[in-house]
Amino acid sequence: MCGIVAYIGNKPAFPILINGLKRLEYRGYDSAGVALYENSGLNVLKKEGKVAALEAFAVDKASDSTLGIAHTRWATHGAPNDVNAHPHLSADGSLAIIHNGIIENYHSIKAELHDKGYAFESDTDTEVLVTFIQDIRDTHNLSFEDAVITSLSKVIGAYAIVVINQDNPDQMIAARKGSPMVIGLGDGEYFIASDATPIVEFTKDVIYLNDEEIAIIQRDGYRITNTSNVPLIPSIQKLDIQLEALEKGGYEHFMLKEIFGQPESIADCMRGRLNARERKLTLGGIREYANKLVNAEKITILGCGTSWHAGLVAEYILEDICRIPVEVEYASEFRYRNPVIKEGDIIIAISQSGETADTLAAIELAKSKGAIVFGVVNAVGSSIARATHEGAYLHAGPEIGVASTKAFTGQLTVLTMIALKVGYLKGTITESQYGDLLYELESIPKKVAQALETDKRIQEISAKFKDATNCLYLGRGYNFPVALEGALKLKEISYIHAEGYPAAEMKHGPIALIDENMPVVFIATRDSSYEKIISNIQEVKSRKGKVIAIVSQHDEEIERMADFTIEVPSSHEALMPLISVIPLQLLSYHIAIMRGCNVDQPRNLAKSVTVE
Ligand code: G6P
Repeated sequence: MCGIVAYIGNKPAFPILINGLKRLEYRGYDSAGVALYENSGLNVLKKEGKVAALEAFAVDKASDSTLGIAHTRWATHGAPNDVNAHPHLSADGSLAIIHNGIIENYHSIKAELHDKGYAFESDTDTEVLVTFIQDIRDTHNLSFEDAVITSLSKVIGAYAIVVINQDNPDQMIAARKGSPMVIGLGDGEYFIASDATPIVEFTKDVIYLNDEEIAIIQRDGYRITNTSNVPLIPSIQKLDIQLEALEKGGYEHFMLKEIFGQPESIADCMRGRLNARERKLTLGGIREYANKLVNAEKITILGCGTSWHAGLVAEYILEDICRIPVEVEYASEFRYRNPVIKEGDIIIAISQSGETADTLAAIELAKSKGAIVFGVVNAVGSSIARATHEGAYLHAGPEIGVASTKAFTGQLTVLTMIALKVGYLKGTITESQYGDLLYELESIPKKVAQALETDKRIQEISAKFKDATNCLYLGRGYNFPVALEGALKLKEISYIHAEGYPAAEMKHGPIALIDENMPVVFIATRDSSYEKIISNIQEVKSRKGKVIAIVSQHDEEIERMADFTIEVPSSHEALMPLISVIPLQLLSYHIAIMRGCNVDQPRNLAKSVTVE
């Protein structure tokens, strides 16, 4: 939540900051602002709304200053408006701050500062923090650096902050605890950002700041220290992102680019890992702990949102193929409910961003109880990737549309490879089943490309249902989590209320909703529950519901019953979610576009949820 970017160097900061904010806008987009160092004072320009609104407002008010900080916000404290937007100035105007995270004890700090006579303009925890730094500096006559360090030692909560100081045109101070932060090392210039996307076009050399580390960045060099001001030796890493991956590449929206990029992103995920002809499946990231997976008595999967849905699919696959009991938990529930985790228990944590606060905290809790944690993560070098013992990256490339699409199929691909590897090592699948499944998995990119050919048909269907107010998604077995994912996609980007259910559970409630206005999307490809789902379709039809069915090719039986069918290629049922989710992604995309919604940046959402 919230994107931060800062620059110090030899170029005008403003264009770099604005472009950086545009790259980070997926993290939050309710208001934005910049602060530029100017001789006459810190020039703070802020605007409610998207970064484009800030740019239009600020373009003729910004100087050529070569030092500045900027922020795009996802509101936690205080409504999204100009006043609450970051950067915030300290009470005396000498310091400006940008902040991602939440200061949990800001109420008590604010009360103390009130008693000392300070007044606040905004409702934010951030303005309290920057005035707190100023007060500590002035009261104890500390240097800027010592004031930042001392105040952070008194703060409870999560933060990634950058602070600049009117008295020093050559310095900025950054610190992190619980919120991500990357420092780019250029030639005579430095960049700070929530992720590497604003940095990549300038330099590939970066430092990922760790929790409780502070960076003091000067025009002529930098230092990293811990919270006791002890110098640390930073590890400089090379970025492996290409600029093109951050652009729309001719598509109207990132979401559409990412949906259509799935044949490639799934192939990238398997590249170098899977070779069916040679019966080779190598997952370097789980090599050391493979035995632990094979001998696991149970596996607990943690995730949020779409990643949790991928976990549900994995539950079916791991139980089916590896005969290991699996529990799938929302990370946010797991971390607060005193879960039973023993030394050596196996956890798989799934996350696209690698920064989701609840997932990260759940991992730390599991580790504190002695669990071994595997990460299934997309963002390379992210906090979750670093917090887990081992894991496998998705290699899906940056996902920018807020609604997750290619990360979901990447997650399913990695989790399927893990299940196949473990099932094979464990002997719970036969040699020939293993070989067949490797071939099937290898052919998925081609089948996903065929599923994408339904796009035209889906546009026609979308036009008929774009004005719906409710929608039900039903599936059984492997396609039940796909129903949940389809419903989530529709509600998050089109704002149509949608629910996913196991098809048989419909009788225990949702059936009461069905009338001639209710679209019901069935994921009804030919699998072991095919006959059962046909009965469910009949139950909906006899109550006049409108049925849209995702079916296997040449399914005449469902075609006779359903109002609309969308045909997709067949595969082993364990792999069908990789294919059957594609039309659901397209359906939500087209309906949202037809309703005039902003699909890449749906209201109230953010891509990286770094607050709990
Ligand atoms: C947010 C995003 C979702 C994502 C979820 C979990 O809600 O909008 O697309 O599924 O967070 O995020 P993660 O990065 O941990 O997969």
